[in-house]
Amino acid sequence: MINKLNELNGKEWLKFTKSWFVINPKARTKDEVNHPAKYPEELASEFIKFFTKSNEIVFDPFVGVGSTVVAAEECGRKGFGIELNEEFANVAKKRIKNKNNYILVGDCRKLLSKVKNESVDFIMTSPPYWNILKKKRGHSDSQHAERLNKGLRLYYSDNNLDLGNIENYNVFLNELVKIFKKSLNKLKSEKYLVIVIQNFRNNDGKYITLAWDIARRMDRYVDFVGEKIWIQENKKLGIWGFKSAFVPNVHHHYCLIFRKRKENERIKNS
Ligand SMILES: C[S@@+](CC[C@H](N)C(=O)[O-])C[C@H]1O[C@@H](n2cnc3c(N)ncnc32)[C@H](O)[C@@H]1O
Repeated sequence: MINKLNELNGKEWLKFTKSWFVINPKARTKDEVNHPAKYPEELASEFIKFFTKSNEIVFDPFVGVGSTVVAAEECGRKGFGIELNEEFANVAKKRIKNKNNYILVGDCRKLLSKVKNESVDFIMTSPPYWNILKKKRGHSDSQHAERLNKGLRLYYSDNNLDLGNIENYNVFLNELVKIFKKSLNKLKSEKYLVIVIQNFRNNDGKYITLAWDIARRMDRYVDFVGEKIWIQENKKLGIWGFKSAFVPNVHHHYCLIFRKRKENERIKNS
């Protein structure tokens, strides 16, 4: 039987279907570290190899310092992305080797209209996790404090077009879902979208179920077909609620996997 999805053998296919994974990424350059929430190319590569074949097109509407596009190149795929922050976009541009791969700089809500509908084979992305990077979670052991000491960026930008600067959670969710809905128009029929996202504890103590809220809200537009959990095994633990309350060290992210419906099924379900 012909493999319609990828170029993996049975063993590799089976390995990918396990619902969790650990990645030991290679060290980042100084430019890359200055981005406060980059994901490893090794993570993007695993998904790209499963959801595309050679020379197919991968897109990321929140491309940061370009990890998705760099991974696409390394896997022999084509790639492009959108990034609002010029400094991150410039790092991404420097990292890309193939002239056919590129970064558009600006607000993805605007720039998505420049991307042709039904032209993309796979979307892999990670948006801002609401405004969590802007909230002081201070503790001497925290990653936040460590970055502060090293003079590294703590959040993406002060630009009011940055989704990480939206105050209200529901407004943020609505904007994000609108962007994903628009991104889905760019995807070919029956192809896949992967969103890397996390649930987290807000600075008022409330646990925000961002991953689950996105999965639920997207259900109207696209089929949610499962998740893979990225486990960050080597992250330092913080003693948050010792001897008084349960406060988790959230050291995992959800990679939510969606599949675009066929045209006729979309009409039937809308
Ligand atoms: C979680 S990071 C993505 C990191 C990326 N996966 C990487 O490995 O470099 C989210 C990115 O979205 C960008 N961003 C925020 N609002 C945006 C917007 N309206 N349009 C495009 N990019 C935006 C931020 O600047 C940030 O780089």
